[in-house]
Amino acid sequence: SKVNLQREEQETISLISTLPSDIDFNGTKLFKYQTCWYDKKTLQGILNFQRGFKPQETDIIISSFPKSGTTWLKALTVALLERSKNSSNHPLLSDNPHGLVPVLELRLYTETSKPDLTSFSSTPRLFSTHVPFHTLQEALKNTPCKVVYIWRNVKDALVSLWYFECANLKIKVEEERSLLETMFESFCRGVSYYGPFWEHVLSYWRGSLEDSKNVLFLRYEELKIEPSDQLKRLAEFLGVPFSVEEEKSGCVEEILNLCSLRNLKNLEVNKTGKTARGVEHKNFFRKGEVGDSKNYLTPEMERRIDMIIEERFRVADLKF
Ligand code: A3P
Repeated sequence: SKVNLQREEQETISLISTLPSDIDFNGTKLFKYQTCWYDKKTLQGILNFQRGFKPQETDIIISSFPKSGTTWLKALTVALLERSKNSSNHPLLSDNPHGLVPVLELRLYTETSKPDLTSFSSTPRLFSTHVPFHTLQEALKNTPCKVVYIWRNVKDALVSLWYFECANLKIKVEEERSLLETMFESFCRGVSYYGPFWEHVLSYWRGSLEDSKNVLFLRYEELKIEPSDQLKRLAEFLGVPFSVEEEKSGCVEEILNLCSLRNLKNLEVNKTGKTARGVEHKNFFRKGEVGDSKNYLTPEMERRIDMIIEERFRVADLKF
């Protein structure tokens, strides 16, 4: 009811007023909630999501730190689950992966804790999130949903984000070297949107060690090196393994080709469309190369951030 909604809104406002705050590289005020940093609107979405989400055991949640390969993983998951569909009416041909797999806190729960999810009537429901594992767990309320996490080298994620920001602002990266430098400082300090990066990765790393049946920990770099093996791993994890006949008939390669950066980038829907939040679909597809950050970060910047991450990951015995 309206009264309930007003009460929830009040609760949200008073909670936010108690949180530590700081400023992001672009001057946005960020609030620290359950170890990570968010702007106010995102945080409201997260609180709504934690409060109102009614998970189902069959739900699949795709999770990532922004710019870590989310689009690719969404496409692969959709293609895996829809592989009986013939190619002419494939969902990936008519919508961008982010339209097909919306981000819970940024799309569905931004305004309300009770969004209309009737369009997600078929199972499994596919959602995505960028929140760390402990924050997601609260929303899942002990329901054993399948969570697939993808992460990638912090430097490549940073440079990818820089490019993405520039593309969205329609400015040339060559002219925005200083933006990269301030973003870099934010990353190192750990005060950045959805950051610290290491808290994020470590939360899912621990989650996957504790519950490997329900949390899959994927690396962008591994997906690039051995895509077939990783896709089969994903299929098994989601309970939809490839049959011997499927493997023989080239089904794995077909999905990989459909979801390749080049193929997705050239689809009409991705050349022209925009997301519900106004981001041009084409901005989600750039180079997709491992180690591209080398071309933009100085050796000194690389050393500094490598040391921070190594130090943070050592405690968890996670190799970078
Ligand atoms: P680069 O900027 O390094 O090229 P996200 O999807 O989480 O926003 O991450 C974006 C990164 O994934 C970008 O990296 C983008 O080019 C890359 N990417 C997008 N689609 C891809 C695909 N189908 N295969 C491989 N990489 C992809």
